[in-house]
Amino acid sequence: MSVTEQPAPPPPGGPDADPAQAALHDRISADSLTTRRDYLRIVVTVSGGLAVGGLAVAGGVLHRHGDSEDAPAPKRIADQLLPGESLAFRYPGDEDRAVAVRLKDGSLVGYSAVCTHLACAVLWRKERGTEGELYCPCHEGIFDARTGEVTAGPPPRALPKVVIVEEGDGSVWAIGTTRSGESIEKGLCRQIVDARPEIAADLGCPGAQAPGRQA
Ligand code: FES
Repeated sequence: MSVTEQPAPPPPGGPDADPAQAALHDRISADSLTTRRDYLRIVVTVSGGLAVGGLAVAGGVLHRHGDSEDAPAPKRIADQLLPGESLAFRYPGDEDRAVAVRLKDGSLVGYSAVCTHLACAVLWRKERGTEGELYCPCHEGIFDARTGEVTAGPPPRALPKVVIVEEGDGSVWAIGTTRSGESIEKGLCRQIVDARPEIAADLGCPGAQAPGRQA
Protein backbone atom coordinates (compact mmCIF):
# COMPACT_ATOMS: atom_id res chain seq x y z
CA MET A 1 0.00 0.00 0.00
CA SER A 2 1.32 3.40 -0.78
CA VAL A 3 0.92 6.77 0.75
CA THR A 4 -0.10 9.19 -1.94
CA GLU A 5 0.41 12.89 -2.07
CA GLN A 6 -2.44 15.28 -1.50
CA PRO A 7 -2.62 18.75 0.03
CA ALA A 8 -1.75 18.45 3.66
CA PRO A 9 -3.34 20.52 6.42
CA PRO A 10 -1.27 23.28 8.05
CA PRO A 11 0.83 22.32 11.04
CA PRO A 12 -0.58 22.83 14.52
CA GLY A 13 -0.45 26.48 15.47
CA GLY A 14 -1.28 27.72 12.01
CA PRO A 15 0.44 27.82 8.66
CA ASP A 16 3.26 30.02 9.93
CA ALA A 17 4.06 27.92 12.96
CA ASP A 18 7.57 26.58 13.31
CA PRO A 19 7.44 22.84 12.54
CA ALA A 20 9.82 21.96 15.34
CA GLN A 21 7.72 23.86 17.85
CA ALA A 22 4.61 22.25 16.44
CA ALA A 23 6.18 18.84 16.83
CA LEU A 24 7.13 19.59 20.40
CA HIS A 25 3.65 20.86 21.09
CA ASP A 26 2.13 17.70 19.75
CA ARG A 27 4.43 15.45 21.68
CA ILE A 28 3.40 17.22 24.84
CA SER A 29 -0.28 17.03 23.99
CA ALA A 30 -0.22 13.53 22.61
CA ASP A 31 -2.99 12.41 24.92
CA SER A 32 -5.39 15.19 24.12
CA LEU A 33 -8.65 14.52 22.36
CA THR A 34 -7.65 16.91 19.61
CA THR A 35 -4.50 14.96 18.96
CA ARG A 36 -6.40 11.74 18.98
CA ARG A 37 -8.81 13.06 16.39
CA ASP A 38 -5.94 14.18 14.21
CA TYR A 39 -4.34 10.81 14.59
CA LEU A 40 -7.55 9.12 13.59
CA ARG A 41 -7.62 11.25 10.48
CA ILE A 42 -4.04 10.34 9.73
CA VAL A 43 -4.60 6.64 10.05
CA VAL A 44 -7.80 6.77 8.07
CA THR A 45 -6.03 8.52 5.25
CA VAL A 46 -3.16 6.08 5.40
CA SER A 47 -5.46 3.11 5.32
CA GLY A 48 -7.28 4.69 2.40
CA GLY A 49 -4.05 4.99 0.50
CA LEU A 50 -4.13 8.76 0.61
CA ALA A 51 -1.74 11.39 1.80
CA VAL A 52 -0.91 12.07 5.36
CA GLY A 53 -0.60 15.50 6.87
CA GLY A 54 -0.06 16.67 10.39
CA LEU A 55 2.85 14.37 10.67
CA ALA A 56 4.01 15.96 13.87
CA VAL A 57 0.78 14.81 15.43
CA ALA A 58 1.35 11.29 14.26
CA GLY A 59 4.86 11.37 15.63
CA GLY A 60 3.68 12.50 19.01
CA VAL A 61 1.17 9.72 19.21
CA LEU A 62 3.30 6.97 17.79
CA HIS A 63 6.23 7.55 20.03
CA ARG A 64 6.72 8.54 23.61
CA HIS A 65 9.77 8.13 25.72
CA GLY A 66 9.58 4.67 27.19
CA ASP A 67 7.43 3.20 24.46
CA SER A 68 8.27 -0.26 23.32
CA GLU A 69 10.86 -0.67 20.63
CA ASP A 70 8.02 -1.60 18.30
CA ALA A 71 7.04 2.05 18.15
CA PRO A 72 10.01 3.77 16.53
CA ALA A 73 10.39 7.51 16.74
CA PRO A 74 9.48 9.49 13.64
CA LYS A 75 12.51 10.66 11.68
CA ARG A 76 12.82 13.48 9.20
CA ILE A 77 14.63 12.00 6.24
CA ALA A 78 14.49 14.75 3.61
CA ASP A 79 13.46 18.34 3.08
CA GLN A 80 11.59 17.14 0.00
CA LEU A 81 11.49 14.24 -2.40
CA LEU A 82 10.54 14.88 -6.01
CA PRO A 83 8.79 12.43 -8.36
CA GLY A 84 11.24 9.82 -9.59
CA GLU A 85 13.70 10.50 -6.78
CA SER A 86 14.79 7.99 -4.18
CA LEU A 87 16.58 8.32 -0.89
CA ALA A 88 18.66 5.82 1.04
CA PHE A 89 18.46 6.31 4.78
CA ARG A 90 18.55 4.39 8.06
CA TYR A 91 15.40 3.53 9.96
CA PRO A 92 14.27 2.70 12.56
CA GLY A 93 17.79 2.12 13.92
CA ASP A 94 21.08 3.62 12.83
CA GLU A 95 22.05 0.29 11.25
CA ASP A 96 18.75 -0.39 9.52
CA ARG A 97 19.04 0.32 5.81
CA ALA A 98 15.92 1.72 4.20
CA VAL A 99 14.88 3.37 0.97
CA ALA A 100 12.16 5.89 0.22
CA VAL A 101 10.88 6.60 -3.29
CA ARG A 102 8.47 9.09 -4.72
CA LEU A 103 6.93 7.35 -7.67
CA LYS A 104 6.15 9.25 -10.84
CA ASP A 105 2.50 9.68 -9.85
CA GLY A 106 3.52 11.34 -6.59
CA SER A 107 3.04 8.32 -4.32
CA LEU A 108 5.52 7.99 -1.50
CA VAL A 109 6.68 4.49 -0.66
CA GLY A 110 9.31 3.21 1.74
CA TYR A 111 10.89 -0.14 2.40
CA SER A 112 13.56 -1.89 4.32
CA ALA A 113 16.55 -2.04 1.98
CA VAL A 114 17.68 -5.38 3.40
CA CYS A 115 16.93 -8.17 0.97
CA THR A 116 14.73 -10.90 2.40
CA HIS A 117 16.90 -13.54 0.75
CA LEU A 118 20.38 -13.20 2.22
CA ALA A 119 20.31 -9.62 3.47
CA CYS A 120 22.17 -7.87 0.64
CA ALA A 121 21.47 -4.19 0.09
CA VAL A 122 18.45 -3.50 -2.12
CA LEU A 123 18.82 -0.71 -4.66
CA TRP A 124 16.34 1.49 -6.48
CA ARG A 125 16.33 1.20 -10.28
CA LYS A 126 14.38 4.14 -11.60
CA GLU A 127 14.26 3.25 -15.27
CA ARG A 128 13.03 -0.34 -14.94
CA GLY A 129 9.45 -1.23 -15.73
CA THR A 130 6.68 1.33 -15.76
CA GLU A 131 7.59 2.95 -12.47
CA GLY A 132 10.96 1.57 -11.45
CA GLU A 133 11.80 -1.39 -9.24
CA LEU A 134 13.74 -2.42 -6.19
CA TYR A 135 16.64 -4.62 -7.12
CA CYS A 136 18.99 -6.86 -5.20
CA PRO A 137 22.22 -7.39 -7.18
CA CYS A 138 23.40 -10.40 -5.20
CA HIS A 139 21.07 -12.92 -6.84
CA GLU A 140 18.91 -10.79 -9.13
CA GLY A 141 16.07 -10.39 -6.70
CA ILE A 142 13.42 -7.89 -7.78
CA PHE A 143 10.65 -6.29 -5.73
CA ASP A 144 7.62 -4.34 -6.89
CA ALA A 145 8.08 -0.60 -6.41
CA ARG A 146 4.51 -0.02 -5.22
CA THR A 147 3.99 -3.00 -2.95
CA GLY A 148 7.40 -4.41 -2.09
CA GLU A 149 6.25 -7.85 -3.23
CA VAL A 150 8.77 -10.17 -4.86
CA THR A 151 8.46 -10.15 -8.65
CA ALA A 152 11.58 -12.15 -9.58
CA GLY A 153 14.51 -14.03 -8.12
CA PRO A 154 15.00 -16.00 -4.91
CA PRO A 155 13.77 -13.63 -2.14
CA PRO A 156 11.15 -15.59 -0.17
CA ARG A 157 9.20 -12.62 1.16
CA ALA A 158 8.19 -9.07 0.36
CA LEU A 159 10.25 -6.21 1.69
CA PRO A 160 8.97 -4.87 5.02
CA LYS A 161 7.56 -1.38 4.58
CA VAL A 162 8.70 1.84 6.16
CA VAL A 163 5.73 4.17 6.57
CA ILE A 164 6.61 7.41 4.80
CA VAL A 165 4.59 10.61 5.07
CA GLU A 166 4.96 14.16 3.87
CA GLU A 167 4.46 17.20 6.05
CA GLY A 168 2.79 20.41 4.92
CA ASP A 169 6.19 22.02 4.35
CA GLY A 170 7.18 19.25 1.94
CA SER A 171 9.51 17.51 4.36
CA VAL A 172 9.49 13.74 4.26
CA TRP A 173 9.40 11.60 7.38
CA ALA A 174 9.59 7.95 8.32
CA ILE A 175 7.08 7.27 11.10
CA GLY A 176 6.83 3.51 11.44
CA THR A 177 7.51 0.11 10.02
CA THR A 178 5.63 -3.01 9.03
CA ARG A 179 6.59 -6.61 8.82
CA SER A 180 6.98 -8.36 5.50
CA GLY A 181 3.59 -8.69 3.84
CA GLU A 182 1.86 -6.61 6.50
CA SER A 183 -0.34 -3.65 5.56
CA ILE A 184 0.48 -0.18 6.84
CA GLU A 185 -2.75 -0.12 8.81
CA LYS A 186 -2.02 -3.45 10.46
CA GLY A 187 1.53 -2.43 11.21
CA LEU A 188 0.46 0.81 12.87
CA CYS A 189 -2.11 -1.02 14.97
CA ARG A 190 0.45 -3.58 16.08
CA GLN A 191 2.84 -0.85 17.14
CA ILE A 192 0.36 1.09 19.25
CA VAL A 193 -1.89 -1.64 20.63
CA ASP A 194 0.24 -2.07 23.75
CA ALA A 195 1.82 1.36 24.03
CA ARG A 196 -1.35 3.38 23.29
CA PRO A 197 -4.34 1.11 23.88
CA GLU A 198 -6.83 3.95 24.05
CA ILE A 199 -5.92 5.14 20.58
CA ALA A 200 -5.72 1.63 19.22
CA ALA A 201 -9.24 1.06 20.55
CA ASP A 202 -10.49 4.23 18.89
CA LEU A 203 -9.01 3.01 15.64
CA GLY A 204 -10.72 -0.32 15.92
CA CYS A 205 -7.44 -2.16 16.01
CA PRO A 206 -8.02 -5.89 16.61
CA GLY A 207 -7.43 -6.85 20.22
CA ALA A 208 -7.32 -3.28 21.48
CA GLN A 209 -9.26 -2.36 24.58
CA ALA A 210 -8.95 1.10 26.07
CA PRO A 211 -8.30 1.36 29.81
CA GLY A 212 -11.47 2.27 31.68
CA ARG A 213 -13.70 0.86 28.98
CA GLN A 214 -13.48 -2.69 30.15
CA ALA A 215 -16.71 -4.33 31.20
FE1 FES B 1 19.02 -10.56 -2.43
FE2 FES B 1 19.92 -13.01 -2.74
S1 FES B 1 20.46 -11.60 -1.21
S2 FES B 1 18.55 -11.94 -3.99
